[in-house]
Amino acid sequence: MSKKIIPPVFPKINVPQVSEKGLQELILDVQKRLNIQLTSYKQDYIKRRLLSRMNSTRSKNFVEYHQYLRTHPEEEDKLRKALTINVTKFLRDPNVFNLVGKEIFPVIIQEKKTIKIWSAGCSSGEEPYTYAILLYDQSRPGVLLNNVIIATDIDEVILNKAKAGIYEKNALENLSDTQISKHFEKTEDGKFKIKDHIKNMVKFQTHDLMTGVPIARMFDIVSCRNVTIYFNEQQKKDLVKVVHDSLGSNRFYIMGMSEYMSKDVEHLFKPFKPMLKIFQKAS
Ligand SMILES: C[S@@+](CC[C@H](N)C(=O)[O-])C[C@H]1O[C@@H](n2cnc3c(N)ncnc32)[C@H](O)[C@@H]1O
Repeated sequence: MSKKIIPPVFPKINVPQVSEKGLQELILDVQKRLNIQLTSYKQDYIKRRLLSRMNSTRSKNFVEYHQYLRTHPEEEDKLRKALTINVTKFLRDPNVFNLVGKEIFPVIIQEKKTIKIWSAGCSSGEEPYTYAILLYDQSRPGVLLNNVIIATDIDEVILNKAKAGIYEKNALENLSDTQISKHFEKTEDGKFKIKDHIKNMVKFQTHDLMTGVPIARMFDIVSCRNVTIYFNEQQKKDLVKVVHDSLGSNRFYIMGMSEYMSKDVEHLFKPFKPMLKIFQKAS
């Protein structure tokens, strides 16, 4: 079946050579204004996002952009969107992940002795590694764990971070001490590196969800969470169809807590735990 291909909506930015004057003050002020933690991200990443907003607001340098931000209240929201595009953490929304670990994994493993998960829009890897940790801890001898999670993102730079699997402490704040000591090793510079038994469970690949084609089919779970912030209504509907195509019969779709399914495509899924945005393929 041929699907309409809608190009990604991310603005292409030429990264100009800009002086770093005013950058640190701007970052500190942005953290306060938007109440978001930027310290776990590489400065280059934050710079790229700020530069895209500077491009759009025709600011020539960080000082000029800072002044623009102070005098244009509507810019805060646009900047938040630009900055949070890759934001993620381990066990984001613990109720959702703990329910998956306790109620969905055991049933599937009992049935098949393995599981197939697609973490779509996985950013720097915290989401797929969370599934891997929960699955590993639920597992028993005889269950197949290698490469059971396919994790994809459109952003190659962020996927390289995911593959490296090295995180700042604050990305792990929802995990228990036991989970941290069992599944991470501390690096010399005080970061946390995911151990190989978890890394080997996840395979990362570049994939654009807007191509309309799933990365594969017959998944037991598709987790596509907090990805649609820049999608228009049609693109959101197309995405629901892609997820539907990629799932096995009666299998599970996990959306972000603030995401919703449009009425036109609701019939493709039935509620499983709708309050946690977990649905089951309807047919
Ligand atoms: C906010 S992060 C969400 C990460 C994770 N799913 C979570 O909920 O914590 C959104 C991710 O979606 C990715 N993304 C955005 N548009 C995409 C597309 N068209 N195809 C694939 N990934 C996309 C971004 O690159 C980003 O890494």
